[in-house]
Amino acid sequence: MTQFPLERFKGLDTPFYYYDMDLLKATLRAVCDATSGDGRFKVHYAVKANANYEILKAIAEAGFGADCVSGGEIQLALAAGFKAEDIMFAGVGKTDVEIEMGLNAGIGMFNVESEPELEVIMQISERLGKVATVALRVNPDIDAHTHHYITTGLDENKFGIDHRLLAPIVNRAVESPWIDLAGLHFHIGSQITIGEPFVLLCYRVNSMVKEYAKRGINFRSINVGGGLGVDYENPDANPIPDFGEYFDLFKNYLKLSQNQTIHFELGRSIVAECGSLISRVLYVKEGVNKKFAIIDAGFNDLIRPAFYQAQHLIQNLSSYGPTREYEIVGPICETSDSFGCNIPIAEARRGDLLAIRSAGAYGQTMSMTYNGRPLAGAYYSDSAN
Ligand code: LLP
Repeated sequence: MTQFPLERFKGLDTPFYYYDMDLLKATLRAVCDATSGDGRFKVHYAVKANANYEILKAIAEAGFGADCVSGGEIQLALAAGFKAEDIMFAGVGKTDVEIEMGLNAGIGMFNVESEPELEVIMQISERLGKVATVALRVNPDIDAHTHHYITTGLDENKFGIDHRLLAPIVNRAVESPWIDLAGLHFHIGSQITIGEPFVLLCYRVNSMVKEYAKRGINFRSINVGGGLGVDYENPDANPIPDFGEYFDLFKNYLKLSQNQTIHFELGRSIVAECGSLISRVLYVKEGVNKKFAIIDAGFNDLIRPAFYQAQHLIQNLSSYGPTREYEIVGPICETSDSFGCNIPIAEARRGDLLAIRSAGAYGQTMSMTYNGRPLAGAYYSDSAN
């Protein structure tokens, strides 16, 4: 359970992100423990969830690979100590410059999302005289039962190649001397809290792998993406997702041979719970029917509530008063700058510090400077900075 060092917080300008590095390290150990029995399981951290240097460094030190979606993320991952051969480069819109950078850096895999992208990678590989190792991203048409903004595996999605259109693209890759076709890549969505979509994904992978094996094409690498969800309601009760259960699903349902590796791209489940956004109450405004707590963090600092109607647990760290309900809003000139209505917290006064929990994933990375607001900084539980 995250302990907040209130004395230390008092002297700091708000808002800021606070990272519980002990929780991050315990989470990384839990992933390693759950995968250690099977050398074929490789976990690549999805850098988009949190690209903060200290976080990346801790994850690289724990031996994870990285899943990057831009040249910028590849540079951040390399600088934080991830090995180039453990980096996968995904994304629907890779630029020529980014592809060239990936090839020159010697990254382990390009997750290719369309036929035109494959053609461009071939051309650039030929020009540089470097073979690109490639996985083709297939859209498996599986409903992940999550928010529609973060569902990606359904039919006719901007992501990946429709499974009905895959065969000629596989042939094109196999024929090219500049492409080493290693495998297939899937990702069905994010914040998935039930096992069923992952089981369906395993069935889909099994049938595709079998079908291609019959045609003499053997994939040595299967990437099942990320998506494991976290508990936003009770972060202290469930600070570490059940990685044992998650990896067991793939151990039990994926029928792969000993020479095939299974890659995971987990983001949220690794970093969400270790991060909190700490903000100060500026004003408590009494309305006719409700009370507003106006705080100094806005959607520029944490966009998830405004963008996805996401609910994060909010706690008043400064008050032990009776619980009251507030609409907790930020200072940005937009009605959507709200962290939620009827939020129960201990009675709020001006100056109180609030913790918006489970903000370690897609918090700092999605922040922006709208309304001329500076980017929030970060502090860590195990250092003085
Ligand atoms: N692999 C691919 C291809 C992805 O698109 C994503 C996330 C991941 C892996 C990592 O998924 P995770 O394990 O973190 O669920 N900003 C949204 C989430 C967007 C997810 C985008 N893709 C949010 O705040 O909920």
